Amino acid sequence: MKKIIILFLFYSLTIAQNKSVEERIDSVLVLMTLDEKVGQLVQYSGGWDTGTQTVRPSEAHEKLIIMGKVGSFLNVFGTESTHRLQKIAVEQSRLKIPLIFGLDVIHGFRSIFPVPLAEACTWEPELVEQSARWQAIEAASTGLHWTFNPMVDIARDPRWGRIVEGSGEDPYLGSLMARARVIGYQGKKLSDNNSIVACAKHFAGYGGAEGGRDYNTVDISERTFREVFLKPFHAAVEAGVGTLMSSFNEIGGVPQSGCRFLLTDILRNEWGFKGFVVSDWNSVGELIPHGVAKNLEEAAQIGLEAGVDMDMEASAYYNHLADLVNRGKVSLDILNESVKRILRIKFYLGLFDDPFKYCDTDLEKKTILNKEIVNATREVAKRSVVLLKNENYLLPLSKEISKIAVLGPLANSKDDPLGPWAAQGKPEDVVTVVEGLKNKLGNRTEIIYEEGCKIDGNSKEGFSKAVEAAKNADVVIMCVGESRGMSAEARSRAYLDLPGVQEDFVKEIHKTGKPIVVVLMNGRPLTINWINENISSILETWFLGIQSGNAIADILFGDYNPSGKLTTTFPRYVGQVPIYYNHKMTGRPYDKSNFYTSYYLDLENSPLYPFGYGLSYTTFKYSDLTLSQNKMNINESITVSVNVTNSGKYEGEEVVQLYIRDLVGSVTRPVKELKDFRKIILKPGETKKVEFIITEDKLKFYDINMDYVSEPGDFKVFVGTNSEEVLESSFMLIK
Ligand code: BGC
Repeated sequence: MKKIIILFLFYSLTIAQNKSVEERIDSVLVLMTLDEKVGQLVQYSGGWDTGTQTVRPSEAHEKLIIMGKVGSFLNVFGTESTHRLQKIAVEQSRLKIPLIFGLDVIHGFRSIFPVPLAEACTWEPELVEQSARWQAIEAASTGLHWTFNPMVDIARDPRWGRIVEGSGEDPYLGSLMARARVIGYQGKKLSDNNSIVACAKHFAGYGGAEGGRDYNTVDISERTFREVFLKPFHAAVEAGVGTLMSSFNEIGGVPQSGCRFLLTDILRNEWGFKGFVVSDWNSVGELIPHGVAKNLEEAAQIGLEAGVDMDMEASAYYNHLADLVNRGKVSLDILNESVKRILRIKFYLGLFDDPFKYCDTDLEKKTILNKEIVNATREVAKRSVVLLKNENYLLPLSKEISKIAVLGPLANSKDDPLGPWAAQGKPEDVVTVVEGLKNKLGNRTEIIYEEGCKIDGNSKEGFSKAVEAAKNADVVIMCVGESRGMSAEARSRAYLDLPGVQEDFVKEIHKTGKPIVVVLMNGRPLTINWINENISSILETWFLGIQSGNAIADILFGDYNPSGKLTTTFPRYVGQVPIYYNHKMTGRPYDKSNFYTSYYLDLENSPLYPFGYGLSYTTFKYSDLTLSQNKMNINESITVSVNVTNSGKYEGEEVVQLYIRDLVGSVTRPVKELKDFRKIILKPGETKKVEFIITEDKLKFYDINMDYVSEPGDFKVFVGTNSEEVLESSFMLIK
């Protein structure tokens, strides 16, 4: 009888549409036992890289669901699996609280889009939002409610393999991309059945790993932390992100999955975040090897009290939280708050109203690899490519060419273009460069393919056949770079050169004297000095996803004029790393007439390609940089205008970039900071006037007292085609 009353109460309070979500949450909480509360805070992985559509958690997992001891699974997807587990939760557990299913949908579920670093190179937040929308539609159709994305870590070190998962080195661009992805995943309303909850990760500072070695120590000042590393997280929170993931790393001695200052003071008290925080995989358990918890019990206490609401895979909460509360060591109020945060997201998703709303098998079949989504992957892919060099306008190639040699270990790879973290992406879905060229050119052109060498390894056996192929061809396309497994988690590299004998391979083919286009596929900036000096045309294509080959063919033959710009600086040598455009002056900025200034004895300071760099088949001229006034009060604004002319032969798109420098402050300021940009399209000969508005907001920073303010004084304004080639002007801020 008691059970019936409880159930009646539960349903009347949770289903009643006229109750506010907060009332409905309280109505559930009041019915929960301590064990059931802890259960909501526990997340387990239902499978591990099975590579199949249907992942089956073990019987032990099913028992946990019945006992109400688990609130969420990751790595469970496919409507059949999610339906089965959800049915157990809502039919066999006492309180019938629905589960939430999460997966790393980083750049697509099955229809794989370009890796996030590539997408950022579009400098088109609207397009990136659309990409995330498609990813959500496909993922939601397979029963997923939640993606562990966007990864919004700022990365200044290409040795760090996870640079591929984010948007690059700039906090402003990174914030726009973070916002775009959150809105794209979460859609108009979380309760729509094609919206999934986003998760901004890894909170925070993870990209600052010393030596670029994954999981390594991070030590950054609070000012840099707030101005650079935290900016995209704040943008994600402002865009309404439902969850955040606490990171593995420490900062200044405090592991972030046990950092109350970050997870509560900043996130909740300063930013007003109302969603929940999930730990990274066992990051609560790792408080032990970090050396701030003696055992798992202490780890559980530190994690929860810091503000980690859900424990991914550490079993710390599962094993110890109830006991800690019973012994009065952890307050029930804190536990209740975490439970409420998780229930809140489940309510927002509409799971209490219809726990099976994401389990429509027909919709799943219709949505996976749906034509519209596949077409979108091609559109985003071609817009993600960055043209690094195009001497003598070798590109675009003519479709009348009779023989092309397509060489290199990435020319016909079905696997690598998927990139890392490719969820259910399958090699059979990938269009390779060889295939893309055949699709584009049909039988008119003979395509000779030779692998030449492997991505890694020492063998040069394949060189001679490839040289023969090159000699017989009118033009050579060489696809070189990294394998998809060389970037992402635990994939740091100490060298940034092309792996294996690939550079020797390019040198060998270069000796034939044939015109060569190098097509790079890789997950991080590489040191490609020789190629830059000797090869006339270079395309950076990153890992473009399933339509890779078609998108690259569109670019090679001028059906799309490349418009991407780098969002990470390319070093000349690994010794320059970390290298980023928004660095400080130092007290001894480099001066070639003064020995005691900041430089290397054996290498210039400048990068190989700067932030914001990228060419087009046409050329652009910047002129008439004008400021509406040269003095500005804090409540006024300045309009910056510049004329951009297409001075070449093709229609093309240009990303016009605005940078600002504060010349003298109470603390030192970067030499330049990106503050705005516009992507415009121009016909040959056309001129457009581009305008930017500078308000006080764009001039603020954390001053000597850590107050976020602007300071009166002189500012420089730069507008240009990348962070180095700019026109310059100045103004004064008065207060
Ligand atoms: C990664 C996260 C990921 C999680 C779940 C961890 O190892 O650091 O980025 O979301 O696994 O797969």
